[in-house]
Amino acid sequence: MASYDVIIIGSGPGGYVSAIRCAQLGLKVACVEGRDTLGGTCLNVGCIPSKALLHATEMLHESQHNFAEMGLKGKAPSVDWKQMLAYKDKTISQNTGGIEFLFKKNKVDWLKGWGSIPEAGKVKVGDEVHEAKNIVVATGSESSSLPGVEVDEKVVVTSTGALELGKVPKSLVVIGAGVIGLELGSVYARLGSEVTVVEFMDAITPGQDGEIAKTFQKMLKKQGLTFVMGAAVQGTTVKNNKATVTYKLRKDDSEATLTADAVLVATGRKPCTDGLGLEALGVEMSDRGQIKTDAHYATNIKGIYAIGDAIAGPMLAHKAEDEGMAVAEGIAGQKPHVNYGVIPGVIYTHPEVASVGETEETLKEQGRAYKVGKFSFMGNARAKANFSGDGFVKILTDKATDRILGAHIIGPMAGDLIHEVCVAMEFGAAAEDLARTCHAHPTYSEAVREAALACGDGAIHM
Ligand code: NAI
Repeated sequence: MASYDVIIIGSGPGGYVSAIRCAQLGLKVACVEGRDTLGGTCLNVGCIPSKALLHATEMLHESQHNFAEMGLKGKAPSVDWKQMLAYKDKTISQNTGGIEFLFKKNKVDWLKGWGSIPEAGKVKVGDEVHEAKNIVVATGSESSSLPGVEVDEKVVVTSTGALELGKVPKSLVVIGAGVIGLELGSVYARLGSEVTVVEFMDAITPGQDGEIAKTFQKMLKKQGLTFVMGAAVQGTTVKNNKATVTYKLRKDDSEATLTADAVLVATGRKPCTDGLGLEALGVEMSDRGQIKTDAHYATNIKGIYAIGDAIAGPMLAHKAEDEGMAVAEGIAGQKPHVNYGVIPGVIYTHPEVASVGETEETLKEQGRAYKVGKFSFMGNARAKANFSGDGFVKILTDKATDRILGAHIIGPMAGDLIHEVCVAMEFGAAAEDLARTCHAHPTYSEAVREAALACGDGAIHM
């Protein structure tokens, strides 16, 4: 039995970042992880592996569509699926190994096994019970199931199974037009699968700025994805390695089916809290299964904290990381703060979609007077040279003060471009502050500046 200042349960982006921050602040810390490798869903079966497949298939697309025009001649590459998966696996192990190195460097103990909390101040891992003045639950989330849909991770898969299908399916039905469905759906579309996305709502990516969602759907259609909107999936059946998906159209209750070689269920995720012993301890949970916390990530039980996907808020790795740092700093006696108004969201399709802050819809709901500054990547020289002129930057400002309230980008490197707006928002900047900042030419980021200019006297290249 060992004694620690902090034991963190879970080594995903929330947990491992928190552990490193605790160590940096002089706390004796251990992190419990039952997987063979550190990094949680994000590094092992989520953000990182999916990015490897997105990158590989984007390269394939580039070679098929744009190489000839650039004078790059030769046979277009063919897909060696096994090798592509090996590249993905190497990317995973480089990253999970990196966390193991950081743990050693920072003297974070890795307690191997699945943890539970028999009582406040104690964490059980295997047969051993360790003492901890503070416990942080960072156990993340798992794919939520849909009634009538039985996941076998072979034909009917979650994002985990979709990252290691035996072969590229000829046809794929994606249930849910959210982030996971569209990222992985576009991977398989580029690999040649016939992809049909079945979505309950009338727009894709719920919560997204409406204009962006519409443009995004048009682009995805152009890339070959088919959409069945306003359709509630009722269930799936599998016969001879083929799946049939039954759905009901909301507008007239009519039922229809789709048959495919694989089905990806991407209808959301739910917190992972089973087996921790939280119920017996009396830790308060919301009716959505999230652990309830106060502004300092403390649960109602003294010395037990929770962060990341296991608590309320967007299920995003970077939100969990920020909370991981904040909870560590709070335990160490500092006064940290996470600004939930400035958490970017990125969809890593091609082109990428990135957003931060308010959308036009939320501003209208609040009855706020706002201004829109927009700039198309068609007016950006770098984007045009790189076959990336599709998409735009949109900045929303307070009509009276010019303060930036939100930004939405669909276009090249949107996931990186959004951060200059995030920094501006953190500093309470006006669009004019962005517009008066010199931006290097020729860069994609000039499109952000031009959108900021469009909030004032007008963009130059439009
Ligand atoms: P999501 O919540 O983003 O989207 C789920 C979609 O499924 C919604 O559009 C919903 O209307 C639809 N749906 C639900 N029930 C349905 C039914 N019966 N029939 C048809 N459609 C139905 O969930 P997703 O994509 O599974 O992602 C889970 C979480 O993981 C999200 O919180 C997401 O933000 C996060 N994530 C973030 C990534 C990123 O930031 N790039 C990447 C992957 C996941």
